[in-house]
Amino acid sequence: MTTLGTPLSPSATRVMLLGAGELGKEVLIALQRLGIETIAVDRYDNAPGHQVAHHAHTIAMSDPDALRELILRERPMLVVPEIEAIATPVLQELEAAGVVRVVPTARAARLTMDREGIRRLAAETLGLPTSPYRFADSIEQLQAAIDGTDGQPAIGYPCIVKPVMSSSGKGQSKIDGPDDVRPAWDYAMAGGRVNAGRVIVEGFIDFDYEITQLTVRARGDDGQVQTHFCEPIGHIQVSGDYVESWQPHEMSARALAAAREIAKRITDDLGTGADGHPAGLGLYGVELFVKGDQVWFSEVSPRPHDTGMVTMITQWQNEFELHARAILGLPVNTALKSPGASAVIYGGVEAAGIVFEGVEQALRVPNSELRLFGKPESFAKRRMGVALAFDSDVDVARIHAKHAARRVKPRAV
Ligand SMILES: Nc1ncnc2c1ncn2[C@@H]1O[C@H](COP(=O)(O)OP(=O)(O)O)[C@@H](O)[C@H]1O
Ligand SMILES: [Mg+2]
Repeated sequence: MTTLGTPLSPSATRVMLLGAGELGKEVLIALQRLGIETIAVDRYDNAPGHQVAHHAHTIAMSDPDALRELILRERPMLVVPEIEAIATPVLQELEAAGVVRVVPTARAARLTMDREGIRRLAAETLGLPTSPYRFADSIEQLQAAIDGTDGQPAIGYPCIVKPVMSSSGKGQSKIDGPDDVRPAWDYAMAGGRVNAGRVIVEGFIDFDYEITQLTVRARGDDGQVQTHFCEPIGHIQVSGDYVESWQPHEMSARALAAAREIAKRITDDLGTGADGHPAGLGLYGVELFVKGDQVWFSEVSPRPHDTGMVTMITQWQNEFELHARAILGLPVNTALKSPGASAVIYGGVEAAGIVFEGVEQALRVPNSELRLFGKPESFAKRRMGVALAFDSDVDVARIHAKHAARRVKPRAV
């Protein structure tokens, strides 16, 4: 049974977000609505989530000592990772010592922190269908993996190279032939987060479409963990970064069943802690490629997913509310309210303290909404906001969301 306290009092239920970007900000808002005392952590000041939390801290979350010190000082009941670049061994250590509970589990945070951990679990341990893949630590190894001259089956062309530690498409590129190998390697070296030097090379999957299957592990009436599925979210990625998403995405019954079977298996596994507990509650974003009735696992976030921002307009409980409720042991409802769509608003300019023109015109688009994240600094390709629209026809919603996004014009002052 869950008992919730009063914030800023000795009875407070305290939750710490590690990462306070636009996704963390929405989780914090959902927690605030339940009277949770919130602690937002990010690597720079005035991050979006800092602006809506009771307490704000700025530290390098990849620094084990800084992270341990902060958690021990704040002593939250729950630690909720919002990003991948965290010193996850510290989370495992503190979870094992019974100091905190990590959402969904410290093991899940560790495994999804780099592409190797999660890919080996999905493909080699669980036997889920994935693209063919190999890891390489040098351009020579990369070339040998593509050509199959190292005794293993060739990955071949086209293929995709990604730093093992990266997200949002950073350092990722497609290789169509031998001339692309050197630029792809150099790009991956420049774009990786930390431990630059190791990449995954994946055979290119010529999918019909890709989806995010939001999957929630929450407690049922009997206290047991149950798995709930949201309607599939379709999305378009440009250079590995999401630009547009919509829900629901129409799928064949067989493809949908296969997608959910994969989602169930990976989240069941990630939801199991080192010693079989804690229960690994929370929302996960399972990314899948689909061609006809065939489905491949691509990757999974053990937390809300950027393409899932569409649920802020399509579901009775959006993905952030679902996450907040599930991690607190509360019941969830994944039902769709209306079909809808989201479209990303990029910064376009490199400047701090920008202004947004055209907000009024954007909001004149029928059934639209905006989220401006409040990021202190804009970069050309930084996600600064998102436009949302609903409509009984998902194609109309997509057009409207894109219209609204395009009308918002970030400007340097
Ligand atoms: N093996 C692949 N075949 C085809 N497209 C791919 C493959 N891997 C990645 N992509 C495309 O690139 C996007 C980003 O890749 P992903 O592995 O999800 O990286 P990130 O962690 O940066 O989101 C995917 O959503 C998909 O559109
Ligand atoms: Mg992805």
